Amino acid sequence: MMLENMRFERFTQDSRVVFFTGAGISAESGIATFRDPDGHWSKYDPMKLASQAGFREDPELVLGWYADRREAIHKAKPNAAHISISKFQKLFRHSVVITQNVDGLHERAGNRSIYELHGNIHRHKCNSCGKYIELNDMNMRILNRCECGGSIRPDVVWFGESLALETINGAFNAAQNCDLMFTIGTSTQIYPAAQLPFEAQKNGAFVIEINPEATSFSAQADISLRDKAGSILPKIYEEINAQLN
Ligand code: OAD
Repeated sequence: MMLENMRFERFTQDSRVVFFTGAGISAESGIATFRDPDGHWSKYDPMKLASQAGFREDPELVLGWYADRREAIHKAKPNAAHISISKFQKLFRHSVVITQNVDGLHERAGNRSIYELHGNIHRHKCNSCGKYIELNDMNMRILNRCECGGSIRPDVVWFGESLALETINGAFNAAQNCDLMFTIGTSTQIYPAAQLPFEAQKNGAFVIEINPEATSFSAQADISLRDKAGSILPKIYEEINAQLN
């Protein structure tokens, strides 16, 4: 569908809008995704790098991989897609971001009301008692211990772990009660996050997907745009802004 043919009259500045994002929104910032041909999971075994068993087996391999990713993220900048969301959030007062990303780029772009479903790579916590711990960059590649004796790890969700209850409940509530959802740059494969666009649509939301590739949600999306987030989202913003004002 052509952008100019999209009609947005049904929405107002009071519409409730959700931006649901995955690794693809950060791809144009130079941050690798997981399941694309050059993504992390095509090179590495996720169970070695993102699970309790992997951490137990070789903690410094795991910590080194997160430290490398953190360094790449430090060098990266939010891209046009993240920045467009900040503009959208000025237009739509009642809007939230639900992200599977741990890179913190939404926050750096000035987005607000952000649910980080899979945690944040810049935070650390104790693997036993859960206490948050500040580490300096020097210490991030070696195994540090909490006062309780537990191992310190990045505050990200690993395979087999549960998402923070308050965060996932808040995200489902926002998805079930929104009028418009953008699902951007996610392969829509990892549950419970992948349920969110289906949940939004089931409850009456209009759902627009942005992804250069088809996903398990594409056939059901109200509009599925095969494009890169950083090139299409600014154009959609201009179109909606023009139609609403
Ligand atoms: P994936 O790597 O599974 O999917 C990335 C998606 O982004 C793919 O569908 C790409 O086609 C799309 N994409 C690539 N470049 C894009 C661009 N410029 N604009 C828009 N889309 C683009 O990443 P996620 O769906 O985020 O979990 O993966 C979900 C979770 O799986 C991650 O949070 C991570 C991973 O294991 C944890 O670490 C817990």
